[in-house]
Amino acid sequence: MKPVKVGICGLGTVGGGTFNVLKRNAEEIARRAGRGIEVAQIAARRPNPKCETGATPITADIFDVANNPEIDIVIELIGGYTLARELVMKAIENGKHVVTANKALIAVHGNEIFAKAREKGVMVAFEAAVAGGIPVIKAIREGLAANRINWLAGIINGTGNFILTEMREKGRAFEDVLKEAQALGYAEADPTFDVEGIDAAHKLTILASIAFGIPLQFDKAYTEGISKLTSADVNYAEALGYRIKHLGVARRTDSGFELRVHPTLIPADRLIANVNGVMNAVMVNGDAAGSTLYYGAGAGMEATASAVVADIVDVVRALTTDPENHVPHLAFQPDSLSDHPILPIEACESAYYLRIQAKDHPGVLAQVATILSERGINIESIMQKEVEEQDGLVPMILVTHRVVEARVNDAIAALEALEDVVGSVVRIRVEQLN
Ligand code: HSE
Repeated sequence: MKPVKVGICGLGTVGGGTFNVLKRNAEEIARRAGRGIEVAQIAARRPNPKCETGATPITADIFDVANNPEIDIVIELIGGYTLARELVMKAIENGKHVVTANKALIAVHGNEIFAKAREKGVMVAFEAAVAGGIPVIKAIREGLAANRINWLAGIINGTGNFILTEMREKGRAFEDVLKEAQALGYAEADPTFDVEGIDAAHKLTILASIAFGIPLQFDKAYTEGISKLTSADVNYAEALGYRIKHLGVARRTDSGFELRVHPTLIPADRLIANVNGVMNAVMVNGDAAGSTLYYGAGAGMEATASAVVADIVDVVRALTTDPENHVPHLAFQPDSLSDHPILPIEACESAYYLRIQAKDHPGVLAQVATILSERGINIESIMQKEVEEQDGLVPMILVTHRVVEARVNDAIAALEALEDVVGSVVRIRVEQLN
């Protein structure tokens, strides 16, 4: 089947990331989508040094893409309200599907855009508009489709969260941290959107509409930023067992829906209170599933591209698959399943926590270290506790670097054979997940 042709409008952080991910993972993406995806045109005012576009045609005019008869899907990554709206409306008018990462556009003009898309029978997908790489729109729209959503609360602006985290942990000044977030490419073109909560309110508006089935109503969201927060408040909150987070909250009540963005104290032991730096997290409470939490990078070149490309795949699937079966059961097309083998556990690699009960004799630790080093197992940390009174044994706890499991099995057998080691060695696998 011929590849689906897409046009990327905007080659900044997200546009460049989208091009790179489509190129790098082309084969895997085609196996998922059921067709190849070809970037047939790019509209950009200047090249992106992080993006090798090769022979892909480039124009300076975004409307060349919207009017290009070859193109099936227009990917709007220029940002802003006005020109982006014109571009998207033109693309829809021309019968093209649209994928966008533009939260401001969807929150403010989404009702009009979706009405036009329905009229023209095209799709408009916008997963990347909320929380970057976290598939939270899909989770709410599809995964939680059985639920009556009661409320949701999210840290949905990475820049604001980064500022609060740095202020709390390092006592850094507000302006200084903001500059760093801008340099990292997280902050909006107008950073007041981040620090005054406007960006979070755009995203919250979208989430609330999907959660509750209500039209987009950005103008009714309450928005309060973090620019007036002081370190003293951050520290007092801490002393009381709380963290201050900039939250977007949407809640169903008997009399209406709450839609509000503001700094919020959260008990320090809540998972969401421990979402730090530029990371985002959204907690959703539904009547059937209870509370679920979605966490990940809320901004950044490839994290956001991940959501853009997932939307492109969704549109391509809808264009190509049996309408009864838009989303393949195993995520990949049935005839594209891989025959790559599943590894036996002995061939898997992990780090290991090992606890050894040893007699309190000189030289035991040296013997343990020798057994591990002979098998090429590198020790990351070691801790020896006091003799336990009841059995006179010394607990010895080791954490290793990553190593293939077969070697650890061999080492454990050798350790258990030592005269001074009593009982079995406890082994727990360790994953840093970083
Ligand atoms: N300025 C946004 C943020 C970028 O900091 O989260 C992602 O929407």
